[in-house]
Amino acid sequence: MTVRRPSGGAARGTIMSLLEVTDLQVRFPTSDGLVQAVRGLSFTVERGRTLAIVGESGSGKTVSTQAVLGLSPGADISGTALFEGVDLLKLDHEQLRRIRGAQISVIFQDPLTSLHPLYKVGWQIEELIRVHRPDTSRAEARRRAVELLGLVGIPRPDRRVDDYPHQFSGGMRQRAMIAMSLALNPKLIVADEPTTALDATVQAQILELIGRVQAEFDIALILITHDLGVVAGIADEVLVMYAGLVVERAGRRTLYYRPHHPYTKGLLESIPGSSGARNGRLRPISGSPPSLIAIPPGCAFHPRCPYAMPVCAAERPPLSRVTGTASGGTAGDGDHASACWLPHEAVGLGPDAEALRLRAKEA
Ligand SMILES: Nc1ncnc2c1ncn2[C@@H]1O[C@H](COP(=O)(O)OP(=O)(O)OP(=O)(O)O)[C@@H](O)[C@H]1O
Ligand code: SF4
Ligand SMILES: [Mg+2]
Repeated sequence: MTVRRPSGGAARGTIMSLLEVTDLQVRFPTSDGLVQAVRGLSFTVERGRTLAIVGESGSGKTVSTQAVLGLSPGADISGTALFEGVDLLKLDHEQLRRIRGAQISVIFQDPLTSLHPLYKVGWQIEELIRVHRPDTSRAEARRRAVELLGLVGIPRPDRRVDDYPHQFSGGMRQRAMIAMSLALNPKLIVADEPTTALDATVQAQILELIGRVQAEFDIALILITHDLGVVAGIADEVLVMYAGLVVERAGRRTLYYRPHHPYTKGLLESIPGSSGARNGRLRPISGSPPSLIAIPPGCAFHPRCPYAMPVCAAERPPLSRVTGTASGGTAGDGDHASACWLPHEAVGLGPDAEALRLRAKEA
């Protein structure tokens, strides 16, 4: 199998980002009103790096990546999404289909979204290869399918290649999805809640596998999750989304050591497994995310925020740089920005974040 090897870090930062999304807006006209799912999202993904997108259900994580990949029918989309300099939002259906799969692949929460239940797993991988690379022989495609299944830890891949999806466990199906996502040597994998449906042990194994193949083949990864605990060991940079906007952006260590935005702080304090939770002091964020048809003015988080001030309901805070973070042992951990009217000096979380800090440190 031909795979791209790590190109090394030297080139990073000196060439254009792999993906550069600027001012992405996604709206869905519905009979109830206009759903403003994404309201001006900007982010970059560098080659071989992992960007985690985190936020509660409905914050716009899935829509923002699917819109970029042409998978949001009926949406009204604006902004730019430059993939190696080409604006994906300007491509037609067929051009996007060719990029999707070959250069960008997607792993969904439910493997059965992508694995057809009536076809053998190996055959589906072979088909993917042959559709995108028609000159590949059936025998060569099969050899690669077996090799890929072995690579992702499917035991006896030469036999299991002829299994149907229902003959695989949930974890094995997700491994098969990862094999499929690697089949065409993509430059970017978008993994949307890839482990949410799995139990904790399998979840850890799959995350470990995703991290390993991502590093081994130097693939960039967008990891979407509602669970900040999941990204502690894997992300280079984290975007925290709320009501269709980025409210905080930081390197992983900065986010865990020195979160600034009260929403991020709330997410960290509500993670099961944090020391706070073990002490019976799990603190979920009070209230619910807003309707995206009637988003609160100013800072959309203000009805739930324990720090809300009059300005918060009146004016939307811009995403701007947090200063002082680098002194917290997180130098070189990327830019830190927060969309909040509180003073822009990093604030620590106290002992409740200790478990997460350790996990971020170990990774
Ligand atoms: N086709 C659609 N028509 C109308 N609204 C939509 C459509 N698709 C998504 N939305 C709305 O857009 C918002 C963002 O949805 P999205 O799926 O991106 O959330 P998410 O952050 O991925 O949440 P989850 O963690 O539950 O997957 C939600 O309010 C959702 O109801
Ligand atoms: S801007 Fe105000 S309401 Fe919003 S998170 Fe900051 S303090 Fe809370
Ligand atoms: Mg989603």
